[in-house]
Amino acid sequence: MMRLDKFLVSQGIGSRSEVQRTIRSGQVLHNGTVCKKPEQKTDELHDKITYCGEFIEYRKFVYVMLNKPAGVLSATEDKNAKTAVDLLPADLQRRGVFVAGRLDKDTEGLLLLTDDGDFAHKVMSPKKGVFKKYYAKLSGSVTAELAQNFRNGLTLADGTQLKPAFIEVLAGDTSAIVKICEGKFHQVKRMFETGGLKVLYLKRLSIGGLALDEDLPLGKARLLSDEECEKIFVQSA
Ligand code: URA
Repeated sequence: MMRLDKFLVSQGIGSRSEVQRTIRSGQVLHNGTVCKKPEQKTDELHDKITYCGEFIEYRKFVYVMLNKPAGVLSATEDKNAKTAVDLLPADLQRRGVFVAGRLDKDTEGLLLLTDDGDFAHKVMSPKKGVFKKYYAKLSGSVTAELAQNFRNGLTLADGTQLKPAFIEVLAGDTSAIVKICEGKFHQVKRMFETGGLKVLYLKRLSIGGLALDEDLPLGKARLLSDEECEKIFVQSA
Protein backbone atom coordinates (compact mmCIF):
# COMPACT_ATOMS: atom_id res chain seq x y z
CA MET A 1 0.00 0.00 0.00
CA MET A 2 1.15 3.54 -0.67
CA ARG A 3 -0.32 7.03 -0.82
CA LEU A 4 -2.21 7.92 -4.03
CA ASP A 5 0.11 10.84 -4.84
CA LYS A 6 3.17 8.65 -4.29
CA PHE A 7 1.71 5.95 -6.53
CA LEU A 8 1.23 8.50 -9.35
CA VAL A 9 4.73 9.96 -8.94
CA SER A 10 6.24 6.44 -8.98
CA GLN A 11 4.58 5.82 -12.36
CA GLY A 12 6.14 8.95 -13.87
CA ILE A 13 2.83 10.82 -14.11
CA GLY A 14 4.20 14.09 -12.74
CA SER A 15 5.91 15.77 -9.82
CA ARG A 16 4.48 15.41 -6.32
CA SER A 17 3.00 18.94 -6.43
CA GLU A 18 1.53 18.44 -9.93
CA VAL A 19 -0.24 15.21 -9.06
CA GLN A 20 -1.47 16.63 -5.75
CA ARG A 21 -3.00 19.60 -7.58
CA THR A 22 -4.70 17.29 -10.06
CA ILE A 23 -6.03 15.02 -7.30
CA ARG A 24 -7.45 18.00 -5.39
CA SER A 25 -9.11 19.29 -8.57
CA GLY A 26 -11.15 16.06 -8.75
CA GLN A 27 -9.58 14.58 -11.89
CA VAL A 28 -8.41 11.33 -10.30
CA LEU A 29 -10.62 8.28 -9.78
CA HIS A 30 -9.80 5.67 -7.14
CA ASN A 31 -11.70 2.46 -7.91
CA GLY A 32 -14.21 4.44 -9.99
CA THR A 33 -14.88 7.18 -7.41
CA VAL A 34 -13.47 10.72 -7.46
CA CYS A 35 -10.80 10.97 -4.77
CA LYS A 36 -9.57 14.41 -3.74
CA LYS A 37 -7.19 13.16 -1.03
CA PRO A 38 -3.50 12.82 -2.06
CA GLU A 39 -2.93 10.74 1.07
CA GLN A 40 -5.56 8.10 0.10
CA LYS A 41 -4.07 4.65 0.80
CA THR A 42 -3.69 2.84 -2.52
CA ASP A 43 -3.06 -0.82 -3.23
CA GLU A 44 -0.80 -0.48 -6.25
CA LEU A 45 -1.42 -4.05 -7.39
CA HIS A 46 -5.20 -4.16 -7.18
CA ASP A 47 -6.75 -0.67 -7.06
CA LYS A 48 -7.92 0.92 -10.31
CA ILE A 49 -6.59 4.46 -10.71
CA THR A 50 -7.68 6.80 -13.50
CA TYR A 51 -5.76 10.06 -14.01
CA CYS A 52 -7.38 12.74 -16.18
CA GLY A 53 -9.42 10.02 -17.90
CA GLU A 54 -6.49 7.64 -18.43
CA PHE A 55 -6.21 4.29 -16.64
CA ILE A 56 -2.80 4.01 -14.97
CA GLU A 57 -1.41 0.49 -15.17
CA TYR A 58 1.06 -0.11 -12.32
CA ARG A 59 4.56 -1.15 -13.33
CA LYS A 60 7.18 -1.77 -10.66
CA PHE A 61 9.89 -1.33 -13.29
CA VAL A 62 9.91 -0.48 -16.98
CA TYR A 63 12.05 -2.07 -19.70
CA VAL A 64 12.37 -0.10 -22.92
CA MET A 65 13.72 -0.92 -26.37
CA LEU A 66 15.01 2.07 -28.36
CA ASN A 67 16.09 1.96 -31.99
CA LYS A 68 18.98 4.32 -31.46
CA PRO A 69 19.97 6.55 -34.36
CA ALA A 70 23.54 7.75 -34.98
CA GLY A 71 24.28 11.12 -33.37
CA VAL A 72 22.54 10.29 -30.08
CA LEU A 73 24.49 9.72 -26.85
CA SER A 74 23.85 6.64 -24.68
CA ALA A 75 23.39 8.88 -21.67
CA THR A 76 20.71 10.33 -19.44
CA GLU A 77 21.52 13.99 -20.02
CA ASP A 78 24.08 16.09 -21.82
CA LYS A 79 24.47 19.84 -22.24
CA ASN A 80 25.21 19.74 -25.96
CA ALA A 81 24.11 16.49 -27.59
CA LYS A 82 20.76 14.72 -27.75
CA THR A 83 20.63 11.68 -25.48
CA ALA A 84 18.77 8.37 -25.62
CA VAL A 85 16.64 9.48 -22.66
CA ASP A 86 15.68 12.69 -24.53
CA LEU A 87 13.99 10.46 -27.14
CA LEU A 88 11.63 8.86 -24.59
CA PRO A 89 8.12 9.98 -23.64
CA ALA A 90 7.94 12.29 -20.58
CA ASP A 91 6.49 9.64 -18.23
CA LEU A 92 9.46 7.32 -18.85
CA GLN A 93 11.93 10.18 -18.44
CA ARG A 94 10.31 11.09 -15.11
CA ARG A 95 10.71 7.50 -13.88
CA GLY A 96 14.48 7.99 -14.08
CA VAL A 97 15.30 5.33 -16.66
CA PHE A 98 18.93 4.87 -17.68
CA VAL A 99 20.82 2.99 -20.38
CA ALA A 100 21.64 -0.70 -19.80
CA GLY A 101 24.62 -1.31 -22.10
CA ARG A 102 25.88 1.74 -23.99
CA LEU A 103 26.39 2.20 -27.72
CA ASP A 104 28.83 4.72 -29.23
CA LYS A 105 27.40 7.99 -30.51
CA ASP A 106 27.74 6.86 -34.13
CA THR A 107 26.35 3.32 -33.54
CA GLU A 108 22.72 2.52 -34.35
CA GLY A 109 20.30 -0.12 -33.21
CA LEU A 110 19.03 -1.90 -30.13
CA LEU A 111 19.49 0.04 -26.90
CA LEU A 112 17.84 -1.03 -23.63
CA LEU A 113 16.75 1.44 -20.97
CA THR A 114 15.29 0.63 -17.58
CA ASP A 115 14.82 1.84 -14.02
CA ASP A 116 15.69 -1.64 -12.67
CA GLY A 117 19.34 -1.63 -11.52
CA ASP A 118 19.58 -5.40 -10.98
CA PHE A 119 18.31 -6.07 -14.49
CA ALA A 120 20.81 -3.60 -15.99
CA HIS A 121 23.64 -5.26 -14.09
CA LYS A 122 22.59 -8.71 -15.35
CA VAL A 123 22.45 -7.53 -18.98
CA MET A 124 25.88 -5.90 -18.83
CA SER A 125 27.88 -8.29 -16.65
CA PRO A 126 30.29 -10.38 -18.79
CA LYS A 127 29.87 -13.13 -16.17
CA LYS A 128 26.22 -13.54 -17.19
CA GLY A 129 27.36 -14.26 -20.77
CA VAL A 130 24.62 -12.30 -22.53
CA PHE A 131 25.80 -12.05 -26.15
CA LYS A 132 25.28 -8.82 -28.10
CA LYS A 133 25.07 -9.19 -31.86
CA TYR A 134 26.27 -6.45 -34.25
CA TYR A 135 26.27 -5.86 -37.98
CA ALA A 136 29.47 -4.11 -39.11
CA LYS A 137 30.43 -2.58 -42.48
CA LEU A 138 34.19 -2.46 -42.87
CA SER A 139 36.87 -0.56 -44.78
CA GLY A 140 38.33 -3.77 -46.23
CA SER A 141 38.17 -7.56 -46.26
CA VAL A 142 38.16 -9.74 -43.16
CA THR A 143 40.93 -12.30 -43.44
CA ALA A 144 40.55 -15.88 -42.25
CA GLU A 145 43.32 -15.12 -39.73
CA LEU A 146 41.45 -12.19 -38.19
CA ALA A 147 38.24 -14.24 -37.98
CA GLN A 148 40.18 -16.99 -36.21
CA ASN A 149 41.70 -14.45 -33.79
CA PHE A 150 38.16 -13.28 -32.92
CA ARG A 151 37.20 -16.86 -32.11
CA ASN A 152 40.34 -17.49 -30.03
CA GLY A 153 39.89 -14.34 -27.94
CA LEU A 154 41.72 -11.23 -29.17
CA THR A 155 44.29 -9.17 -27.36
CA LEU A 156 43.64 -5.47 -28.08
CA ALA A 157 46.40 -2.93 -28.79
CA ASP A 158 46.44 -1.84 -25.10
CA GLY A 159 46.84 -5.44 -23.91
CA THR A 160 43.17 -6.00 -22.98
CA GLN A 161 42.41 -9.70 -23.29
CA LEU A 162 38.95 -10.42 -24.74
CA LYS A 163 36.76 -13.47 -24.43
CA PRO A 164 36.13 -15.50 -27.60
CA ALA A 165 33.77 -13.77 -30.05
CA PHE A 166 31.73 -15.22 -32.89
CA ILE A 167 32.11 -13.77 -36.36
CA GLU A 168 30.28 -14.52 -39.59
CA VAL A 169 31.84 -12.81 -42.60
CA LEU A 170 29.16 -11.80 -45.10
CA ALA A 171 29.28 -11.97 -48.91
CA GLY A 172 31.96 -9.66 -50.31
CA ASP A 173 34.09 -10.00 -47.13
CA THR A 174 33.69 -6.32 -46.15
CA SER A 175 30.81 -6.74 -43.73
CA ALA A 176 30.23 -9.13 -40.88
CA ILE A 177 28.00 -10.20 -38.03
CA VAL A 178 29.86 -10.21 -34.72
CA LYS A 179 28.72 -11.56 -31.34
CA ILE A 180 30.46 -10.47 -28.14
CA CYS A 181 29.62 -11.05 -24.49
CA GLU A 182 31.48 -8.05 -23.08
CA GLY A 183 31.00 -4.31 -23.47
CA LYS A 184 34.46 -2.80 -23.43
CA PHE A 185 34.93 0.76 -24.70
CA HIS A 186 34.64 0.82 -28.55
CA GLN A 187 35.09 -2.94 -28.40
CA VAL A 188 33.96 -3.99 -31.88
CA LYS A 189 35.84 -1.12 -33.54
CA ARG A 190 39.03 -1.96 -31.65
CA MET A 191 38.66 -5.65 -32.50
CA PHE A 192 38.63 -4.90 -36.23
CA GLU A 193 41.49 -2.38 -35.80
CA THR A 194 43.75 -5.29 -34.77
CA GLY A 195 43.37 -6.47 -38.38
CA GLY A 196 43.90 -2.97 -39.85
CA LEU A 197 40.18 -2.46 -40.57
CA LYS A 198 37.96 0.50 -39.82
CA VAL A 199 34.30 0.06 -38.93
CA LEU A 200 32.36 2.33 -41.30
CA TYR A 201 28.90 1.50 -39.89
CA LEU A 202 27.82 -0.40 -36.81
CA LYS A 203 24.35 -1.51 -35.72
CA ARG A 204 23.36 -3.64 -32.71
CA LEU A 205 20.91 -6.30 -33.86
CA SER A 206 20.19 -8.22 -30.67
CA ILE A 207 20.91 -8.69 -26.98
CA GLY A 208 20.72 -12.34 -25.89
CA GLY A 209 17.62 -13.75 -27.56
CA LEU A 210 15.95 -10.36 -27.99
CA ALA A 211 16.20 -8.93 -31.50
CA LEU A 212 15.65 -5.31 -32.46
CA ASP A 213 12.05 -4.88 -33.57
CA GLU A 214 12.56 -3.95 -37.22
CA ASP A 215 9.12 -2.28 -37.27
CA LEU A 216 10.38 0.23 -34.70
CA PRO A 217 11.48 3.33 -36.64
CA LEU A 218 14.89 4.86 -35.91
CA GLY A 219 14.65 7.12 -32.88
CA LYS A 220 11.49 5.44 -31.55
CA ALA A 221 11.09 3.47 -28.32
CA ARG A 222 8.56 1.02 -26.90
CA LEU A 223 8.07 -0.95 -23.72
CA LEU A 224 9.15 -4.60 -23.65
CA SER A 225 6.72 -7.31 -22.57
CA ASP A 226 7.67 -9.75 -19.77
CA GLU A 227 8.29 -12.45 -22.40
CA GLU A 228 10.66 -10.16 -24.32
CA CYS A 229 12.60 -9.39 -21.11
CA GLU A 230 13.00 -13.09 -20.44
CA LYS A 231 14.31 -13.64 -23.98
CA ILE A 232 17.31 -11.42 -23.21
CA PHE A 233 18.69 -14.15 -20.95
CA VAL A 234 18.08 -16.95 -23.46
CA GLN A 235 20.88 -17.22 -25.99
CA SER A 236 20.03 -16.70 -29.66
CA ALA A 237 21.44 -18.68 -32.59
N1 URA B 1 31.48 -1.81 -30.03
C1 URA B 1 31.82 -0.59 -30.51
O1 URA B 1 32.92 -0.37 -30.98
N2 URA B 1 30.88 0.37 -30.47
C2 URA B 1 29.63 0.20 -29.99
O2 URA B 1 28.83 1.12 -30.01
C3 URA B 1 29.29 -1.08 -29.49
C4 URA B 1 30.25 -2.07 -29.50
